[in-house]
Amino acid sequence: MEVDKSLVSALIEAAMSANYTGVRRIGGQIAKSLAEQDDLEGAKALQSLLRKRGVPLQASGYAEALPRDAGSRLPLIEEGQWPTTPIMLGGEAGQTISQFIEDAQHISLLAEKGVSARLGLLLYGPPGTGKTLLAGHIAASLQRPLYVARLDSLISSRLGETAKNVRGIFDFVPARNAVLFLDEMDAIAKLRDDRNELGELKRVVNTVLQGLDSLTDDVVTVGATNHPHLLDPAIWRRFPYKVKLDLPDEDVRASMWEHFLFQEDALHKDNARLLARVSEGLNGADIENIALASRRRAILSDREVDLARILLAVSGSKTGSPRLLDSRDLETADKKVLTRLLHEKGGIGQAEIGKIVGVSRQMVHRYLKEAIDG
Ligand SMILES: Nc1ncnc2c1ncn2[C@@H]1O[C@H](COP(=O)(O)OP(=O)(O)OP(=O)(O)O)[C@@H](O)[C@H]1O
Ligand SMILES: [Mg+2]
Repeated sequence: MEVDKSLVSALIEAAMSANYTGVRRIGGQIAKSLAEQDDLEGAKALQSLLRKRGVPLQASGYAEALPRDAGSRLPLIEEGQWPTTPIMLGGEAGQTISQFIEDAQHISLLAEKGVSARLGLLLYGPPGTGKTLLAGHIAASLQRPLYVARLDSLISSRLGETAKNVRGIFDFVPARNAVLFLDEMDAIAKLRDDRNELGELKRVVNTVLQGLDSLTDDVVTVGATNHPHLLDPAIWRRFPYKVKLDLPDEDVRASMWEHFLFQEDALHKDNARLLARVSEGLNGADIENIALASRRRAILSDREVDLARILLAVSGSKTGSPRLLDSRDLETADKKVLTRLLHEKGGIGQAEIGKIVGVSRQMVHRYLKEAIDG
């Protein structure tokens, strides 16, 4: 293997100055160069080292530099990791994100020509659709450190302290060439319900607005919320780019099953498609949970993942509350449920349904007839 010497010295320099963001970035470059030289094993090993959690700021002795809540002493902002889970998005969201990233990469050119926009992106949509994950991906594609501030954790019970916390974050970030991620932004609006203290709410909203306005052009801000209608309109306007993350459509669900359950094994494409058809309404986090539960069962029982049981888990799941697999044997009632599900949504014939459910084709026919006859 050949690694560029300048990368090695940059790596050592970053390590010696406890610059973990640098270590991660350069480590990532080395892994990439290994992969380009077909040393996939080496690249993978390195990436898994880089993925280790818990190293950043706190452990590095930088903790003192992080702004903290005066009461709890908890940090108001934390360095997030670049994610390893790929993000799977539908067409329109994907396009706006690519545009945002392209604009961010060429911000100085755009500014020079007088057509730059504030680099603020608001992600909104239901829980579990990948907003937090996506923020990490944006930092990774821009090769910038990710600073995460969860607004719900900034809310202090002491009057005046919340606004001070918000200010602490904005004071901390501009000096760094970073992505500032403001997660759970609707938490601010909840101040209204919790306290009946409009003065406090106004003060906090104003501090957020001032903070956003104080950022230099090149700071990338990503905000996320499940409740966009709760956001103050003035905050809403500070984010020129807006992306709604919806529940995944069938194609995206198929990619999720391929990734989380079948680890991209092309042999299972048809099964992934089948699962995608029956899992309408589930979000990415639900699919991930069901898939991982099934792989755990498979590993511990030393068997292949069990398609029938996964389908059954899917049929018993609702958005945000996935039903996880158990290891009991399928009962007749389960088989009936499964047969009907596959018949209604699976887009496959009775013979194939029988194979998956583990009954004869005649039995499939009978189950379906029973269902019709009530
Ligand atoms: N679009 C997606 N692509 C890939 N993985 C996804 C996607 N959506 C969800 N997931 C999986 O579910 C996990 C949880 O998603 P994430 O925390 O990003 O959702 P969120 O939209 O931020 O939810 P919340 O509104 O509850 O904060 C992710 O870490 C990922 O593993
Ligand atoms: Mg989130």
